[in-house]
This record gives sequence, C-alpha cells and structure tokens, in this order.
Amino acid sequence: MKKVILTGVRPSGNLTLGNYLGAIKNFVDRQEQYDSYIFIADLHAITSPKDPQKLKEAVYNCVAMYLACGVDPKKTIVFKQSDVLEHGTLGFIMTFQTKMGELSRMTQFKLKSQQQTKEGVDTGLFVYPTLMVADILLYNTSIVPVGKDQQQHVELTRDLAERFNKRYGQTFTMPDVYVAPVGNKILNLQNPLEKMNKSDSGDNKGTIFLMDDIEVAKKKIMSAKTDNLAHVHFDEENQPGISNLMSILSKITDEDFESIEKRYEGKGYGEFKKEVAEVVAKTLAEIQAKFKQFNNKDMLDKILSNGAIDAQKVASQTLKRAANALGLN
Ligand code: TRP
Repeated sequence: MKKVILTGVRPSGNLTLGNYLGAIKNFVDRQEQYDSYIFIADLHAITSPKDPQKLKEAVYNCVAMYLACGVDPKKTIVFKQSDVLEHGTLGFIMTFQTKMGELSRMTQFKLKSQQQTKEGVDTGLFVYPTLMVADILLYNTSIVPVGKDQQQHVELTRDLAERFNKRYGQTFTMPDVYVAPVGNKILNLQNPLEKMNKSDSGDNKGTIFLMDDIEVAKKKIMSAKTDNLAHVHFDEENQPGISNLMSILSKITDEDFESIEKRYEGKGYGEFKKEVAEVVAKTLAEIQAKFKQFNNKDMLDKILSNGAIDAQKVASQTLKRAANALGLN
C-alpha cells in the first residue's frame, strides 16, 4: 500500500510564485510516489467573507491553476472540501479534543484575529485549525506538504490524533509535515523580511503572481531588493534578498546553493538576477499556457465531482471509525 500525501489551498484567483514553490510543486513532484489528494479549501475561505459569486469563480480558477501547475487528475484525487460533508463533521468532533489555549497559541490566529478586532473575532477563525486537522486525518494522511506558516497546524493535527487515539483507541494515522528544505518560505521581493503574500501592501511589486504578465514578472525580479555586499551568497540573515532569489532559482532548477555561488563568483547581481528572471519567466509561461487549456468549467466540474466521489469513500470510512470509537454509532 502506498502512503498518502495530501494538501489543500484556499481558493484564490491569485496564486503566487511562493504558493507554487512552497507547496504545490512539492506536491506535484510526489504525486506518483503516493496516494495523492489535493483539495480546494473553500470552507476555510469563508473565514474572510467574500462575495459568493467571486468565491465560486475563485474555486474554478484555483482548480485550473493546480492543473496548470502539473497536478494530474489521473494520478491525484482533486476535490472541493465543501463537497465532502465529512470534513465539517469530523472538524466539529475534533473541537472536543482541543483546548482553547492550544488554538489561541496559533500564530496565524494571532495575526488574523488582530485584523478582525473592530467587530469582534469570529469563532470560525478560532476553530479553523481543527477543520484543517479533520482535512488531514480523514484521508489517513502520512505526509502534508505545506509552507512554513502552516507547519504549526500540522503539529496540532499530530497532537490531536495522538490524544484521540489514546483516549478512544487507534483511529487516526499520524501525519508528518513536509516543509521542503529549499523554498519553503519565498519572501516578498521588496521586503525580504516578509513572506511573499497574495495581499501585498507595496503595490504588488514584491509579489509574483503566476498569472503576471511575463515582462512585468521579470521586472519584479530585476528590481528585487538586495544588499551592497556584492557577492551571490546564501545567508538568510545578512543577505535575505539574495538568498530569496537563490531559493527561487534552486527550487525551479534543482541546482544547489553551492553550485550557484560558484558560478557567480566575482560576478555582479545584475547578471544573477537576469538568470533568475529568465527561469521564472519560463516557469510562468508554461503555467499560463496550460492554464488556458484547463480553464473550462465543464471539464473542471467533471474533475471535481469525480474527485468528491473518490474522496468521500475514504473520508466516510474514517468518520465512521471515529464515530464508532466515540460510541456515536
Ligand atoms: N490552511 C491552509 C492555508 O491557509 C490550507 C489548508 C486547509 C490545508 N486544510 C489543509 C493545507 C490541510 C494542508 C492540509 O494555506
């Protein structure tokens, strides 16, 4: 039996190079080795209220984008979280295994709840990690490739799985987080102390979107903030900008840092940036060409409905096991 790999991404029309390199690519590179699941976390998306029509569009967009990034529905079960009702039920069950203190400690909650303080903080935002716990446990997942910011949620999943198994008997598989050694946190090109985010405060100059115009994307790389040390060297502390560009290059081409450093010995940043810009441009061009091909709602509906059927088969068994363990059926 193959082990299970699973990841989810919130639907957003604007996936970034950071999403691609930090999470999606790690998944795509492994989809043959594992039993693979990827889903659109649309229930998670409602933690920040959106125009319902826009949310629907964003879901289609996101699936087409996954496919464009190389997710292959013949190898991977592709589905939408809200199509598989077991997510909500197990998520609810898991809230009873979770302490308020555990959830208040979540870094993402701390950050996002600060943005909601005007009208009060939604309880959904607070319990959101327990839904993510359910997402992972439902599929007997062994490995969860995510960006660094999600690592804490996977650690919570491990704690809760262990707690449940201890209390009620072996029910859930223990998942491991997979944070890639390179490229797990692509940084904002203009402010390399911040993550490259979909919502970029600085005019989007620091964020490369996968759908960016190729020339615009190249310019963003060429004008990325660096330093005045004038050598291409991986040192996240003292040269965060250059290190970030090296991560981008290395993640796309698989060339290690040492070899990049060697090639650029005695050379300037301009030349180095040019190569990074070319490599990124090529990646975006490939993704964008495929996106056009996959941007077809009938086809996407078919993929999602088939995916939901396959996913539900597994999810319903796990939920039954958990309900049985609790004495619910
Ligand atoms: N919370 C993740 C994010 O914001 C998305 C997500 C939801 C997820 N459920 C998941 C990722 C399960 C991995 C596994 O990016």
